[in-house]
Amino acid sequence: MKSKVLEALGRTDQYVSGQELCEKFQVSRTAVWKVINQLKEEGYEIESVPRRGYRILRRPDVITAEEVKSRLRTQWAGREICYYETIGSTNNEAKRLGEQGMPHGTLVLAEQQESGKGRRGRGWVTLRGSAIAMSLLLRPQLPPPCASMVTLVMGIAVAEACRECCGVDAKIKWPNDVVVDGKKICGILTEMSSEIDYINYVVIGAGINTNVENFPPELQKTAGSLHQMTGGRPDRAALIAACLEKFEQCYEKFTARQDLSLLMEEYNTLLAGKDGIVQVLEPGNEYRGISEGINRLGELQVRRENGTVESVYAGEVSVRGIYGYV
Ligand code: BTN
Repeated sequence: MKSKVLEALGRTDQYVSGQELCEKFQVSRTAVWKVINQLKEEGYEIESVPRRGYRILRRPDVITAEEVKSRLRTQWAGREICYYETIGSTNNEAKRLGEQGMPHGTLVLAEQQESGKGRRGRGWVTLRGSAIAMSLLLRPQLPPPCASMVTLVMGIAVAEACRECCGVDAKIKWPNDVVVDGKKICGILTEMSSEIDYINYVVIGAGINTNVENFPPELQKTAGSLHQMTGGRPDRAALIAACLEKFEQCYEKFTARQDLSLLMEEYNTLLAGKDGIVQVLEPGNEYRGISEGINRLGELQVRRENGTVESVYAGEVSVRGIYGYV
């Protein structure tokens, strides 16, 4: 009931009458009044004007299921949301829910992670109020080798959402770090449970540095936050909703072809360092070349000095610009 009222109030900046809420949700005026008071206790500033109704003036900066759902315009992404104040890792929780049979599109959100996971066995820090930690559970009907491409789909979604919600010039560092002004503001970790020819589920986790003020010295050169870039404090719930909306649109294009052919152009427009020199760091094989963007499988096309074009597959390979991290 609380989330429904919040959703109804959140969809407009006009007044919504108490009568309308009562009729819509088939409850008494007292029940609506109680919910409004609960919301006020949670930090919502709600104006109530006789004969006009209720209107939200200010929302607390929280990423609860209600807050995100009240902004959501998706068909399936984030229709089920599991929110935690504190959790070990949202990816681990999404995998647990995947095992329990939760549906395609279930989203796990946490305000704080105690053992967040990064790629290649590294950790990932998510402190209360400073970031977004989210993991999306998917049940793609695709062959297992296609799964890694959804990571690039999430990269597009996060970059586009940051551009739209925060006005930053977000780019993607291949394969899937989102960067602004050469600093990483988002990392993505995809995990999968599959059989040889069948995907049980995929979990895509994204960590977005929204309000981080300072990074530890070892990360200061490479990591950044949206707050540092804009001076503002992004509306985290709106940013999550925008990521899900973009993701859903891009995911439909991805599954239609089972590859990135319908998304390559969009991805390559967002690709940092495209047409510039990159250094490919492949175990036992390092070389330089020009980054020509991804192909339909998400492999980076790198033109070497002798004119041959290498298809670089993410796995163990790192690609760096020659002047730094991007
Ligand atoms: C990277 O190393 O760049 C990937 C970082 C991914 C972090 C996110 S935060 C939400 C989700 N839960 C985790 O434990 N990790 C991912």
